Amino acid sequence: MNPLPPAQAAQALAAARSRLAAKLAQDPMVDDVLARFDRWGQDLWDGLEAVYDAQATLPQVVDLIASGFAARSPDLRARDVQRLLRPDWFQRPDALGYVAYADLFAGTIEGVGQHIGYLQDLGVTYLHLMPLLQPRPAPNDGGYAVQDYRSVRPDLGTMHDLAQLASSLHQAGIALTLDLVLNHVAEEHAWAEQARVGDLDKQRYFLTFPDRTIPDQFEQFLPEVFPTFAPGNFTWNDQLNAWVWTTFNSWQWDLNWANPAVLCEFIDIILFLANHGVDCLRLDAIAFLWKTMGTSCQNQPQVHDITQVMRAAARIAAPALLFKAEAIVGPDDVVKYLGVGSHAGKISDLAYHNSLMVQVWSAFAMGSASLLTQSIKRFAAIPSTTAWATYLRCHDDIGWAIDDRDAAALGLSGPMHRAFCADYYAGQFPGSVARGAHFQSNPLTGDRRTSGTTASLAGVESALESGDDTALRLAIDKVLCGYAITLGFGGIPLIYMGDEIGLLNEHDFVANPDHAQDNRWLHRPVMDWQATKNADAGHGYGADLLGGLRRLIAARQECPALHAAVPPEVFDAAHGSVLVLRRLHPAGNVVQVFNVTSTTVNLDVGTLWPLSGSVRDLISGHIFELTYLGLTLGPYQSTWLTVTN
Ligand code: GLC
Repeated sequence: MNPLPPAQAAQALAAARSRLAAKLAQDPMVDDVLARFDRWGQDLWDGLEAVYDAQATLPQVVDLIASGFAARSPDLRARDVQRLLRPDWFQRPDALGYVAYADLFAGTIEGVGQHIGYLQDLGVTYLHLMPLLQPRPAPNDGGYAVQDYRSVRPDLGTMHDLAQLASSLHQAGIALTLDLVLNHVAEEHAWAEQARVGDLDKQRYFLTFPDRTIPDQFEQFLPEVFPTFAPGNFTWNDQLNAWVWTTFNSWQWDLNWANPAVLCEFIDIILFLANHGVDCLRLDAIAFLWKTMGTSCQNQPQVHDITQVMRAAARIAAPALLFKAEAIVGPDDVVKYLGVGSHAGKISDLAYHNSLMVQVWSAFAMGSASLLTQSIKRFAAIPSTTAWATYLRCHDDIGWAIDDRDAAALGLSGPMHRAFCADYYAGQFPGSVARGAHFQSNPLTGDRRTSGTTASLAGVESALESGDDTALRLAIDKVLCGYAITLGFGGIPLIYMGDEIGLLNEHDFVANPDHAQDNRWLHRPVMDWQATKNADAGHGYGADLLGGLRRLIAARQECPALHAAVPPEVFDAAHGSVLVLRRLHPAGNVVQVFNVTSTTVNLDVGTLWPLSGSVRDLISGHIFELTYLGLTLGPYQSTWLTVTN
């Protein structure tokens, strides 16, 4: 939109401030809210002005901020103050995430509350519960087709249970993250229902086309997310007599974010969820929000302006709330979700580091860290107030997003390496120990992604089958190496439920007709509480995993250099088997070395610069002198070294 002259913009902002002051005049915390408006009002304006008619939309947004704040409980208002005093809580080395489906983890939301002790014991400070708002009846993309953002899936509980859980988690020092599905709603959502029966306002919430002319033009540039079970990006609807934009499944209707009414609906939903105690919203599929003809309709600049508006509104009304961007896009684009240029520090606080995850699995398959090192070096700096969410596995497939330029820099073909990774992890490459499966094989592009749990992909399942103890040890060490990178990279590490005890693939997912088509359910097993008890008691391979993970968590907690504000430097090691990360920090420099191969390596002492003399390995606690003999690392061994005081 055309920006207003500065004087007029300042006037509009001042009018909005007065409006907010009047709305909250009786509220004892009105001055706090106005101070926050003074801090974040300009961000709000700038974001609005970039996309919408800011003058017309700002008063509506201000009203939502006022009503959202008015409904905020005293406890959550106190939490806002605490979080503003410690804004880096999620960047600190003691931050640790855990990701689970409420039903698979504990049956219900109330059940999750009964396992808070387990999470605390592990050191968890952040819990992401997978989609639990009311979805359409199955199939619903694992809950990512939301029918009602203001109620909970009935078999899991109620909004009241959710608020109670949030409060118990808060008392235990754990923040709650939920998904916010922004790109689309279920076709059963009231907005879509109303659009279908002729409500013109609600029709403008969606992207509809009377014939194929425009969809066909868009299609030339659009990738297919689910080519196997949902080819194409548009779905014909008889009632609307139109093609509806459906990037994902045919029953997930993309929203028209060019309509400010959609923005206002979501600001209201965001504050509603924040007022139930949600601390962080995972902005699902955020890359797809804005559509521009002639582009892939991902990563459009307007997405960042819109995020800036939503975040500024949340900062003013409920500043304890964080945003986490789920943008599974290339290195050059993903950093923009943490804010570059005028958006720096003003949009999402967290973003998934998809590339790191992909590259770690690729490195294990190759038996080399070179491509991993090359790709991490490509990443631009991120604002010091933000952090990566690092992870080894999640509920989704692994898409082999390996940049052709990175592959070429090492003399590899991008397409061939991607095919190798997919085949390796589907267990279809000679010598592969992995037990994954292909997901969404696309014969047109040759693209195929991978499903499977961490343990099964790493070789635990095949080693157990063959009864090969050496292979089992290697597989466990591989998982621990992957987690050492995940926990040691900086940012908030996320443990995917069951990885701590090595849950294997759930092959029975095909027995459920609602899941049978979608093999991502292979890596969504039910939590095995007996296995956690066995692991705790030192029995079985789970004990080695849990013990190893606990050592890593403890090492992280005592390593100030792992604060996310201190970026890791990636060091080109002379030895291609290792990833070397170095952090220079006033509290003590740290050099981390990860052997991503199944063989022992000897490293030159120069690799460990600037460390010299007596050093301590934070993981093993071992203290030793660095000498010209260098350092020896066993298969998949990691070391985080710091100087001794
Ligand atoms: C995100 C989710 C994925 C889902 C998609 C569509 O990428 O992680 O599971 O299928 O969004 O909502």
